[in-house]
Amino acid sequence: MNDYIVELKNIQKKFENVLVLKNVSFGVRDHETISICGSSGAGKTTLINIMGLLELPTHGNIFWEDQNVIICNAKKLSQMRAKIFGYIFQRCHLIPELNVIENILFPKRIMSKISIPDIEFAKELLQLVHLGGFENRNVGTLSGGESQRVAVVRAMINRPRIVIADEPTGSLDEKSAHITMDIIINLCREYGSSLLLITHNQLFAKKMQISYILNNSELKPFDYAKSEQ
Ligand SMILES: Nc1ncnc2c1ncn2[C@@H]1O[C@H](COP(=O)(O)OP(=O)(O)O)[C@@H](O)[C@H]1O
Ligand SMILES: [Mg+2]
Repeated sequence: MNDYIVELKNIQKKFENVLVLKNVSFGVRDHETISICGSSGAGKTTLINIMGLLELPTHGNIFWEDQNVIICNAKKLSQMRAKIFGYIFQRCHLIPELNVIENILFPKRIMSKISIPDIEFAKELLQLVHLGGFENRNVGTLSGGESQRVAVVRAMINRPRIVIADEPTGSLDEKSAHITMDIIINLCREYGSSLLLITHNQLFAKKMQISYILNNSELKPFDYAKSEQ
């Protein structure tokens, strides 16, 4: 037993014969903020896909709430995944046929039927990201920054234990990037979610309590304060 929500133990990942992750061990606890940096193609997205069991490792084990999830069935996995993880991607991946509030409530449907408190919570979150009154907007009419803030709200709707943000500001201009990053950090703090941030932006990485670098297939702790001395 340990206090990790999610833990990877000795993960190796090969695509064909290319080694992308070598003996990676890593975990996320409650209320932690963690950044992972690494050049494009280093394996960051592969790592978080393995963490959420969206991809299988070649070797190693994955534990969610102390359960070895490699042996769980698909139905149990998708329920647990929806409860534990909220995802934000570089592109917002909103569903164009659904309006703003329907997009936000989409991950809720995996967990349960939509209830009035869920709708109230979605509206409360929309207020917090400065999109009060946007509930019925067609998502095709939103700006890039607005779309990403809807995606942030969607990631929070199940009150996940961990928010995984994979280059969430990579497609935004500098101003929108700062606004969006502050919103992600504040919402995670407010609702008690841990934050795992994948980013190329050192300013944002430094805001996290714990930092790692993924390089040459290895994940290593990184201390920005020491590197600047
Ligand atoms: N499904 C796949 N099949 C083959 N190679 C893949 C696959 N997914 C990722 N890769 C390769 O693995 C490496 C790491 O990719 P990725 O995890 O997306 O990197 P990052 O997110 O750090 O940019 C890249 O060389 C990529 O081409
Ligand atoms: Mg990536």
